Parts: sequence; C-alpha cells; structure tokens
Amino acid sequence: MPNSLRMPLIKPLVEDSQMLDTHALLQPLKIGNLTLDNRLMVAPMAGVTDNPFRRLCKSFGAGHAVSEMMTADTTLYARKKSLFRANFDGEIAPISAQIAGADPDKLGEAARYQLDNGAQIIDINMGCPAKKVCRKLAGSALLKDEDLVARLLYKTVEAVQDYDAPVKLKTRIGYDLGHENIVRVAKLAEEEGIAAIAIHGRTRDEKYGGTARYELIKTVKESVSIPVIANGDIDSPQKAVTVHKQTGCDAVMIGRAAQGKPWLFKQIAHYLQTGEALPDPNLSLLKTIVLGHLDELYAFYGEYSGCRIARKHIAWYTSGIPNSNEFRQAMYGEETTAGQYRAVERFFEKQV
Ligand SMILES: Cc1cc2nc3c(=O)[nH]c(=O)nc-3n(C[C@H](O)[C@H](O)[C@H](O)COP(=O)(O)O)c2cc1C
Repeated sequence: MPNSLRMPLIKPLVEDSQMLDTHALLQPLKIGNLTLDNRLMVAPMAGVTDNPFRRLCKSFGAGHAVSEMMTADTTLYARKKSLFRANFDGEIAPISAQIAGADPDKLGEAARYQLDNGAQIIDINMGCPAKKVCRKLAGSALLKDEDLVARLLYKTVEAVQDYDAPVKLKTRIGYDLGHENIVRVAKLAEEEGIAAIAIHGRTRDEKYGGTARYELIKTVKESVSIPVIANGDIDSPQKAVTVHKQTGCDAVMIGRAAQGKPWLFKQIAHYLQTGEALPDPNLSLLKTIVLGHLDELYAFYGEYSGCRIARKHIAWYTSGIPNSNEFRQAMYGEETTAGQYRAVERFFEKQV
C-alpha cells in the first residue's frame, strides 16, 4: 500500500454514551445482518464522500456513510481514481461500497470485488442523473426499465449470497414527472432480496431543481417492510425531524448540507436528544476541524491530488465567514499542500 493511502485514525468526537437517547432516529438500525449505531446517514457524493470525509462525518456521529459511486466495470479498478474510491482504510464499520452499472453479471462481479476489498454492505446506485452515467443506462435512467432493474438486483443479491452481505438500493422516485414508479421499484427490490432502500424525493429529470417530494417516500414506507431511508433537501435538525414525521422513514440521509458542515450529524443528534439547537463550531474549533481534515486529505491523496481536492472543502468551510472571498481566491492559487495549509492557518489566525 503506498504511503499516501495509509491513514491516521480520526478519534470519535461523539461518545457512544451520548447516543443512548430514545428518539427513533437515534436507535440502532438493522440492515440485513448488520447493525448501524443510529439512523443518520451521509449520502454518497462522488468527489465529496471520500474516505477522509466519510470518517469525519462518522466521527461527528453519522451512523452510516456510503462510498462514492464506483463503476461496475472492474477492468477499470486499477485506475488511480478507482483505487482511492475503493479505499476503506481506517473506516468505522459497517463499510458500504456503492456500485453502478447496467449489466447484471458485471454488477454482481463488482459487488463481490468490493466485498473482497473490505466492504460489508453493497449499495446499488440507481439515482444518478449525471449524463455520463445515464447514457450507459446506469444510475437513474435504469428506472425506465423495471425488468432490467429486477435482473440487476437479483443478480447482485445472488452474487453476494456466500458473503451474507446486505445489498441496499439508492434511487429516486422515478425517471421523470408523471412516471414516478418508486413504489413498484421498492416492492420489486424487496422481492429480489434488497435489504434497505434509500430514496431521493425527486425524479431523475428534476435533477436538483425544485424541492424534494416526500409523499411517495411515505407510500413506499407503507408498502414494504425493508428499511426506507429518506433523502433530499434535509439541511437542519428541524428538517430531519419534519421529514421523519412526514414519511415515517427508518432513517434520514443527508448529502449537500454536510458539505463543509460534517458536524451537522452531531447537531441533529443533539437536537433529537434535547430539543435544543447546537451552534456551529466557533472559529477556533472550526480551524481545528479544517486543519485536521486537510491533514487527512493530504495523507490520503498525497501532494498533487490532496491540494486540489482540499480546495472545495476549504471553500465550503469558509463560505459563511464575512470577507472570506479574497482568501478563497488566493487559496485557489496555492499549488502545494504546505502552502495551502499555511494559508488556511493564517486565515483563521486573523479571524480568531
Ligand atoms: C456532488 C454530488 C455528488 C453525488 N454523487 C452521488 C453518487 O456518487 N452516488 C449517489 O447515489 N448519489 C450521488 N449524489 C446524490 C446524493 O447522494 C443525494 O441523493 C442528493 O444530493 C440529494 O440529497 P441532498 O439534498 O441531501 O443533497 C450526489 C450528489 C451531489 C451533490
């Protein structure tokens, strides 16, 4: 294993004892034979939920994190990008690998590959609106062809039978407006042996426009007995509670709102325990979190990619800080991890 892939451990910031409250979303969740500590999940986001970010979210109390999407084409797995995506070093179990593809045999093969590689849960992506993915009929374009959906799910579940590993499905409510077939897809998924389903409350055509619709997630919850995970536009503890109430879901999944805000999971847990809002970290704590995250990114990706991948995280972390535009412009010009780290350090020192 190259040095850049070896990871220091992130210590949990939320003690187990703090998670012993009674709100349903703080209860353990069984998915197949595995148990998640709670029902607050970070959504898979390509380019965001890499190994360091998943570990960071889990250190703030996320009960589950899914890897970035990986192609079902295992011939591409030797590529540098795939090696990073399939790296689960130091991750808190259970580890979930997301795969996407439109060929049932290849999807099954990819699932086995990921389980051999250390994953314990397979997550199939049928929710991606990206053109690159949809052209190959993977991601959410698959929703148009329910027979193929059934074959893909069946083959993947069958392929991993020997591993006794649960297979989850992540998808949207349908392909386009007027064709919201999620209830049929969810029933079909349950029949094919899928252990849980995460649903983003938009159709593929809606991309990220408008607002997520939760009614169909509620109908799915009433129609199947596998765990149903609600996703889409959950950006605060209050919204997590509202979506949970509206859908009766078994878990909530948060994507964009966790960008630059991995402590959101701790805030949600705190709110569920006490009914009180936990403020965002002050600038001094924020500095510690950001610099810690940078250390992890640099150790994981090495000099070149570490510096580039860190930029977007730094931008998210600092976006709410008054007069931070100039800093971000200058930071984008830093070409080395050392220079970038110093720039961030100096920026926060000026603030606190
Ligand atoms: C940058 C980005 C990358 C994403 N990549 C993936 C992915 O790899 N796999 C997947 O299933 N969904 C992916 N999604 C969709 C999210 O998992 C989630 O369903 C969506 O963002 C809605 O949740 P949110 O409103 O909480 O962000 C991605 C979303 C974003 C913003």
